[in-house]
Amino acid sequence: MSTSQPATSTHYDPVATRVRGFGATVFAEFTALANATGAVNLGQGFPNFAAPDFVKAAAQQAIAADLNQYARSAGHPRLVRALAQVYSPLFGRTLDPMTEIVVTVGATEGIFASVQALVDPGDEVILIEPFYDSYPAAVTMAGGVPVYVPLRAPEGARSAAAWTLDLDELTAAITPRTKLLILNTPSNPVGKVFNRAELSALAEIVCRFNLTVLSDEVYEWMVYPPAEHVRIATLPGMWERTVTLGSAGKTFSVTGWKIGWAIAPPPLAHAILMAHQWIPFAVSTPMQEAIAVALEESQPRNYFAWLSAMYQAKRDCLLAVLTDVGLPPMTPDGSYFIIVDTGALPIATSPGARRDIAVCRWLTQEIGVAAIPPSPFYSAPHQSLTDNLARFTFCKTDETLDEAAHRLQRIKSVH
Ligand SMILES: Cc1ncc(COP(=O)(O)O)c(C=O)c1O
Repeated sequence: MSTSQPATSTHYDPVATRVRGFGATVFAEFTALANATGAVNLGQGFPNFAAPDFVKAAAQQAIAADLNQYARSAGHPRLVRALAQVYSPLFGRTLDPMTEIVVTVGATEGIFASVQALVDPGDEVILIEPFYDSYPAAVTMAGGVPVYVPLRAPEGARSAAAWTLDLDELTAAITPRTKLLILNTPSNPVGKVFNRAELSALAEIVCRFNLTVLSDEVYEWMVYPPAEHVRIATLPGMWERTVTLGSAGKTFSVTGWKIGWAIAPPPLAHAILMAHQWIPFAVSTPMQEAIAVALEESQPRNYFAWLSAMYQAKRDCLLAVLTDVGLPPMTPDGSYFIIVDTGALPIATSPGARRDIAVCRWLTQEIGVAAIPPSPFYSAPHQSLTDNLARFTFCKTDETLDEAAHRLQRIKSVH
């Protein structure tokens, strides 16, 4: 009798096709490179300064109060009430905290749950390029089909506002299968704040083609005058067809707490809740309590105005440094990112290599300041649009920004 194992024809490969194409994100790669080389990390958008004391104290009290058990799936009552209080005037309507708000594990889960809730296999979803990189992943995992429409900037543009959507191009991309459009304002990575006229034109198209909008507004409090943040949900006919996402991570400089929210009319909020109840089911109870208290205290403390002024000062400092060292920036009207033009840098790339990635590796390794290449924010056919671009963030301490400014001076010697 043979003792050998029976031959097996089944090769063990448990990985689903829909995730097989995903690699490590550009943020993971460049943060690792920054850590390995000791570069100042102006790549990944996480604040490296302390969160406000009143926010931390609220979390300490929530832990001490033994708020340890599962939260209500749609959101801890105190948090949804605080959100309704803050957002009702901004939406120009009385939001129902129990039926129009879903608390999520950061805006990232808000994106994922919303797409799961609204997109059927084969549905097309319009993504405006450059897009936040979780959008195509969320669409693909729901079986949807991303359709890309790039913002276009004229040659030599020096402001985020100059990046605009060609409405004919957008209209041409819409088919009978188009279901959803994902909007991001203020945008990452450009820092574009869509103005009222742009959003009205977009809303007209959305209504004409009977689409739904997922409006990612996580940078809503980082808007620099004279720009103003307009919520597309407040435009005529749009409340019924818009999901608006927010993030405590961005708002209170606590990205690791992973608290976000979706605001939507009851049928859409209910659909999101139906997806959410099977993703995390519920979100950290003490952290929700802490964010509730933080929101309650924000208005008497004038916190949101402080946050925007704090970031505007950092933006202006970094803009001056980038201009001085020959990396002409596109002035952002919102967010904490700046896109620069790297065209003047003498960086040679091998055939087939992405120039923006080569430039950001060079900035990290040779100059000692990490930036993010924007090509992963584009679909493959449009990635050449970013050859001469890099993204810096200014959500860092003044000391970090000063050290980066000092190191960036080295660029002058290569021009
Ligand atoms: C446009 C955009 N949306 C969503 C997120 C994720 O938000 P959160 O940290 O709340 O999950 C980010 C984070 O960088 C972002 O830039």
